[in-house]
Amino acid sequence: MKRVLTGIKPTGYAHIGNYFGAIKPAIELSKHDDYECFYFIADYHALTTLNSKAEMKEYFYNIACTWLACGLDPKKVVFYRQSDIKEDFELNWILCNVTPKGLMNRAHAYKACVEKNEANGLDRDDKVNMGLYNYPILMSADIMLFDADYVPVGLDQKQHIEIARDIAHNFNIKYGETLKEPMEYIDENNNTLVGLDGRKMSKSYNNTIRLFGDENELKKAIFRVVTDSRLPGEPKDVDCTVNKLYKLFVSESEAKEFEEDLLKGLGWGDAKKRLFEVANRYLSPMREKFNYYMAHKKEVDAILDAGAEKARIVARKVLRRVRKAIGAE
Ligand code: TRP
Repeated sequence: MKRVLTGIKPTGYAHIGNYFGAIKPAIELSKHDDYECFYFIADYHALTTLNSKAEMKEYFYNIACTWLACGLDPKKVVFYRQSDIKEDFELNWILCNVTPKGLMNRAHAYKACVEKNEANGLDRDDKVNMGLYNYPILMSADIMLFDADYVPVGLDQKQHIEIARDIAHNFNIKYGETLKEPMEYIDENNNTLVGLDGRKMSKSYNNTIRLFGDENELKKAIFRVVTDSRLPGEPKDVDCTVNKLYKLFVSESEAKEFEEDLLKGLGWGDAKKRLFEVANRYLSPMREKFNYYMAHKKEVDAILDAGAEKARIVARKVLRRVRKAIGAE
């Protein structure tokens, strides 16, 4: 049995890219009997970017309810809130001491901030807090605390898993074989989900479609999809964003039918109307569940508390092994 672990940061509303790129495949994985899955909400990682308590609460429940609405089964998956696992922060500190500072200097997220500051003539560490700087160490602790074998992530997180492996390796060299060195689990196909403007769907590009906004918001977002200026009656390019999005929500035969209509000259307005209809048909049942959980947050808390109980059983065992290895027990 292999252990799979991944975290999602509550720094915004879940969007369709998160769903098809991360949530759906992770839930499918959890249905396999060969995998034991640990999925958590990385609330303390979100602290580096969130501006207020209100944002934390809003995004935390948005993400938690999204996972449940999308079919995460808390009986199958150990589903918990990062900050409930105090052992994580103890391991984080221990790992700090086998992490070369230079390794953190090379981490993408930190480096990107520094480069932006330099380009703008600011102090290189302007607006860089230690949470951002140490981010990869806490992420390593998240992973190693559970002896995870595989970590499903997007390509943007690949470096973080490599860093985690380096840190585990350093620890093992110094104290003997103690920590499992994790592997990233990347589905290349799922990393290219297209956004409203044809680029990768990402919060930083402002081109996302919120997963569980209301119907009206979904419609508005879909009508913002960028198209070319071909008129109704003119054949459309099947490589267009409308078609790429349409395919996500339908069977192969429906996808084929839509493509044929595009080639026959379906107008953009009608194409978008049809895209809205299939997206809404797909999302409605999950949206209902989402709204239910959002209205019953106590139930969500109870699910996460029970998950934390289960997670702590493993976390305590691993932390004890680590404490023994360093001579603290
Ligand atoms: N850094 C990840 C992201 O931004 C979230 C995360 C935190 C994570 N801890 C993790 C992912 C541990 C996998 C494993 O998406």
